[in-house]
Amino acid sequence: MAYTSFFRDADVLDAIGALVVPWASAQREIKVWDAGCATGEEAYSLAMVFAERLDPFTIRNLRILATDREESAFPQFEDRINQGRYRSLELMWVPEALRSTYFQATEEPGVFEAVSTLRDCIRYQRHDLLTLVPPEEGFALVVCKNVLMHCPLEMQAPIVSMFHGVLRPGGYLAFDGFQSLPEANTGQFEPVEPGLPLFRRRVGDP
Ligand SMILES: C[S@@+](CC[C@H](N)C(=O)[O-])C[C@H]1O[C@@H](n2cnc3c(N)ncnc32)[C@H](O)[C@@H]1O
Repeated sequence: MAYTSFFRDADVLDAIGALVVPWASAQREIKVWDAGCATGEEAYSLAMVFAERLDPFTIRNLRILATDREESAFPQFEDRINQGRYRSLELMWVPEALRSTYFQATEEPGVFEAVSTLRDCIRYQRHDLLTLVPPEEGFALVVCKNVLMHCPLEMQAPIVSMFHGVLRPGGYLAFDGFQSLPEANTGQFEPVEPGLPLFRRRVGDP
């Protein structure tokens, strides 16, 4: 249930790099919510997508809030994400140029650590989407990939309404390729491009 990997849904990450980063880069605080982050590979992939396109000064404005309800009796997501340590097998989906820029070898063979530029952007908080109480607001981007399928069908539209409520006007919502926008939310978001699971909070929407 908590399967994840770096650069999963690469077409969505490409679109985030091309569309969301330029739009968000002028914001004093660039806030991203990675909802259902598991062990953090997605949050670190997002951080790399932004870091590649922002100058070293602007990257300091990036705040990625990574949340998950983490049901395990032995919680580990927070430690994994704070440490930013991943094995070479987990890093195989990271393009070599990015891996050598953003991950350093550690004293443990085969284990690499994200550079502080990335680690400092990301904060973990335990959070259950089913509460419908958002952890924060004012996000430029909400990413919720491979998560809503685990939520009861009748809860999906209310969760997407919560995302709508915490996005800045014109902010973006990213899903995985299997997740469609619930019918009840089509007045809140418009698709960015046919077939791409990236949606924009409708401009002019209060
Ligand atoms: C398959 S993983 C997806 C991880 C990542 N988003 C990705 O696409 O690679 C699903 C994650 O959603 C989390 N999840 C499921 N239901 C949730 C809920 N109600 N609130 C928060 N997280 C939830 C699970 O704990 C799990 O870590």
